[in-house]
Parts: sequence; structure tokens; C-alpha cells
Amino acid sequence: MVSRVIPVDPFDLVIFGGTGDLARRKILPGLYRRFLAGQMPEDARVIAAARSEMSDAEYRAMIREAIGEFVSKARQDKKAIEAFLKRLSYVAIDATGEDGWDRLKQATRRDVVQAFYFSVAPALFGPLAERLHNRGIACETCRIVVEKPFGHDLASAKALNATLAEHFHEGQIYRIDHYLGKETVQNLMAVRFGNMLFEPLWNAQYVDHIQITVAETVGVGGRGAYYDKSGAMRDMVQNHLMQLLCLIAMEPPAHFDPDAVRDEKLKVIRALDPVLPDEIVRGQYQARGKDPGYREDAENPASLTESFIALRLHVSNWRWKGTPFYLRTGKKLKARASEIAVVFKDPPHSIFGPQENRRGNVLAIKLQPNEGMTLRVTIKEPGPGGMRLVEVPLDMSFAEALGENGADIPDAYERLIMDVIRGNQTLFMRGDEVEAAWAWADPVIRGWEERGDRPCPYDAGTTGPEEAQILMHRDARRWREIRE
Ligand code: BG6
Repeated sequence: MVSRVIPVDPFDLVIFGGTGDLARRKILPGLYRRFLAGQMPEDARVIAAARSEMSDAEYRAMIREAIGEFVSKARQDKKAIEAFLKRLSYVAIDATGEDGWDRLKQATRRDVVQAFYFSVAPALFGPLAERLHNRGIACETCRIVVEKPFGHDLASAKALNATLAEHFHEGQIYRIDHYLGKETVQNLMAVRFGNMLFEPLWNAQYVDHIQITVAETVGVGGRGAYYDKSGAMRDMVQNHLMQLLCLIAMEPPAHFDPDAVRDEKLKVIRALDPVLPDEIVRGQYQARGKDPGYREDAENPASLTESFIALRLHVSNWRWKGTPFYLRTGKKLKARASEIAVVFKDPPHSIFGPQENRRGNVLAIKLQPNEGMTLRVTIKEPGPGGMRLVEVPLDMSFAEALGENGADIPDAYERLIMDVIRGNQTLFMRGDEVEAAWAWADPVIRGWEERGDRPCPYDAGTTGPEEAQILMHRDARRWREIRE
């Protein structure tokens, strides 16, 4: 199978925060891979802007090093890297002052696609937007890309939306949730709406429950200052897990276009019931041997911030009434494994008599690390001795099924940046979606803050606190195993 590269128009991509971690780890390596794939037109330019003084040559050297570190060795082609670096330039800029803006104006063109990536603290969104507008740098059709965290709560998210809206309309604003750029997440929509097989069963009549797990092995070391003010709820659930939930639970949109998809996602968030205190388990990892615990990593010995959370949610609409959604995510767990599992009900009557340990059909969509899908089905256990049933997986690894193209799944950022250039907002969050997600999360967070809830301790390298198991057992269900 040959992968198709759809060309994009010439563009100027300005990256504010161009020397930052995200730019070095994700944005520039992603652009390099698109360049390698032949998707960066001849006259596409990347202009990095940041506070420190630096020449173009010094910036290119920095990105040469970043490519060496963050792009797989197999993709490191010396000639290609140098050709790519020629597309980069650097402008030192004072985001809140006057310096550098004239140079930026000279460096950008108004007759190509313009995208301005705000890879900076949200406090700078306002000053940047204002200067781009007032100095006549941004053209009418330019695009603004912003990263999470998009607000800390509903009030701050509204304020950010209002700040951006002063100079740009919603059709120009691309709010990134990089989970939406993951190939398998998009596959979720392909599987649901591209097949006849699943959608008729995709409702409370046939689905017992749904599990969404995003398990990480990393801790918060190095980003403790940010994380401690955020916690798993703000860092992962309000955005990434919520987006996964929306894609799983939404009604089929009439078209695969930005507003049709985002309207349906918004309805899901608005249909969420308030979460009761006994439907949430919060956890915090403990020190193990020489491995520091959360409080040491966060450098806050009295921290009550959660590094793990499990929740039971209810989407109150006709499709899902009675089917709970269980979400969990955490740091320092036993494996890096993210998946969505749709657990179907048992057949209404077993013609084979009682069967022990039946576990029913499960469609598991694995997001990472090994993208793929498994459908667990029941068959007869081979051999004589009566009709004994056994469950086996119908397994599809995308890498195996799609050969070279499956193994070579692009990183989320590659995909999303190209969508910005194409002007396709389908995989970006609309302002009202973000606000609705905060409107749901705010009272949950306020609840545990007011009660002074303490997170349950858990050992690093496990599946999280025991209480998360109990949350499931109470409903006579169990979490799926966390494994790569
Ligand atoms: C980020 C969070 O948005 O997503 C991090 O801030 C988290 O805490 C990361 O580690 C996970 O992303 P991925 O793509 O590695 O699953």
C-alpha cells in the first residue's frame, strides 16, 4: 500500500516559543518528517520567535540537535536535514514589548497561508494577538494555534476565549488537543462510522460499559511546578480523556466536517451527569526504594494533588442511559498503555447452559504504544468433551495489517500542523467545547477541594490505588489489565 501525500499550499508558520520544549520535541521534528514525506512545498517557511537573541545559524544548530534527539535514526538523512533547516529562520522578539516586531513583519508574507503557533504561556496570548493585529502582520485569513492548558477553570478559559476573540474569529483559532491527532483516535471514527457492523450495537441496549484508560509510566519529575497546580483531572481528563469519551459516545455527525463533528461532541459533554463523590477515586504515587514519590517530584511535601484518577461517568441521553463510562489515567503505573474498551452485554440466554468465567465480547481500541484493535469473541474450545466455550481475540495490529504504512504512523503533531495549514478544524477544539468541559470539571474539582479530600496513596509500578478496583467491583465489573 502506498501512502498518499496530499500537498498543501505555500505557508509561513511562525512559532512563538520556538526555542521551547514543545517546539524542539514535537513541532520541529514533526515538520521535518513532513518535509521528508514531501509535504512541505518549496516556498514554505518556518519562522521561530522567542525572547533570546540568536542568529538563524544558531537556531538551525539547535534544531539540528533536536532532530538528532527526537527523530528516529532511520529518518535522519543528513542532506534532507540541511535542506529542511534552510527553511527555518529566527526572530528575537519581546512578546509584551516593542522589540522585534518590525523584523517579524519583514520576515512574514501576507500572500501565503499564515499560521501563528502560540507555544507560550497563556498570559502571553493577549499581548501576541494584539501585536499581530495592530502591527498589520496577521492577514484576515491567518490561523492561530494554541496549546493546552486552555484555562485552569471555566472562568479562565472564558477569559482566554474572549482575549483571542478580540482579534480573531473562531474559524481562525485552532485549539490543539494532541490526542485528537493520534492516528488511532481518528480510527475510532472510521471504525464507528465506516462500518455497518458496530454502530447498530453502539448503545445502552447492547453495551454493558465502556472503559477508557490512559496509563503512563513516567512521573511528574521535571514538570512538578506546573503539574502540582493541575493534577490528573485538569492535565488529562478535562481534555484528552474527555475528547476520547466524546468520540466514543457522540451521535453520527451528518458530515465529517468541523462544525458537524464538534456539535455532536459538545452535546455529549452537555449530557454528562454531575459526578458524585463516591464515583471518583484520586491517587498519588508513593516513593519506592530510591524512586521518589509524587510529593518529592512535585517538591511539595503536603501536596493533595492527584497523579491518578478513576471516575464513573453517565451520559444522560437515549443512547447511553444505563451504560456507565469508566475513565482512569495516572502517572507511574505499571505500563504505558492507552486503550478504549467497549464491553458488550452477554447474550440474553445461554443455550449452552451455565458457563463459568464468561467475559463476553469486547472491542478494544489500542491507542498506544502498539496501535491496533482487538475484538474478543466466543468460540467453542477445541476437542471432545462437550460444548465448552472459550474467548479468543480477533487481533488486528495496524502495523501488521497495513505493512509499511501501519508501522509508520505519523505523530499527532505532524497531522495537526498540516491540518492547520489546510484550514481544517475538525480535529481541534471549539471554544464552546472547551468551556463545556470546564463547566463539567469545575464543580467536581471544587467538591474535593471543599471537602479537603486526600488522594489515596499507591505504589509506583502498580495499577493505581486499590480503591480504583473497588469502584469497579462495586458494580460487579473489573478493569482490564494495563499492559503494553
Ligand atoms: C500531556 C500531559 O498533555 O499529555 C502530560 O500534560 C502527559 O502530563 C501527556 O504525559 C501524554 O501524552 P502522550 O501522547 O504521551 O500520551
